[in-house]
Amino acid sequence: MKLLGICGSPRKGNTEWMLTKLLESAHEAGAETELILLRQKDIKLCRGCLTCEVGRDRKPGVCVIKDDMAPLLPKMLAADGIVFGTPVYFYLLSALLKNFMDRTVPIWPLLKGKAAAGVAVAEDGIGQAITNLRTYTDLCQMPWVGEVTALAKGPNDVASNDTATAALVALGRRLAEPSARS
Ligand SMILES: Cc1cc2nc3c(=O)[nH]c(=O)nc-3n(C[C@H](O)[C@H](O)[C@H](O)COP(=O)(O)O)c2cc1C
Repeated sequence: MKLLGICGSPRKGNTEWMLTKLLESAHEAGAETELILLRQKDIKLCRGCLTCEVGRDRKPGVCVIKDDMAPLLPKMLAADGIVFGTPVYFYLLSALLKNFMDRTVPIWPLLKGKAAAGVAVAEDGIGQAITNLRTYTDLCQMPWVGEVTALAKGPNDVASNDTATAALVALGRRLAEPSARS
């Protein structure tokens, strides 16, 4: 199993810690793992031109914007499972992660069947953030394996949450199982 984590926080904080913990667990259970930190990438806003859509030949489209998104699309296609992580902003997913999703137009129909999971962290309430992630993964026809949510404010606060830690380890193990993929 190849597992890709996508971190949609602009800071080195709770989302990154949660994804790291989950991926460590999956790695220990035998998965090949990689974490992409969107905060370190130059990924410009989708221009909405739709010239990149997957064609009838089912080949990936090509985006007109030349930036750090291009090498991430083949990584998504090579993965068996993708874990999306977001801080909760105004009870929604972060703009950083949403723009990343928008930039997957060149490949999104090709994600069908890959396992999907999510982590979300908020100061006082998760709101629609997991629903937002699932709206994307359902549209892509990626089977949802599970999510972990936690409440934390300061960038390291979630590390002391034993319940969340145990849930991350368990979800990582589940994602490492080949049966996680449909
Ligand atoms: C722009 C912004 C909006 C936020 N909106 C919410 C919110 O609606 N509800 C909430 O509980 N926390 C909210 N927070 C707090 C963050 O979700 C919280 O600090 C979280 O731990 C951040 O995750 P991170 O450390 O991975 O960046 C907001 C923070 C920022 C910067």
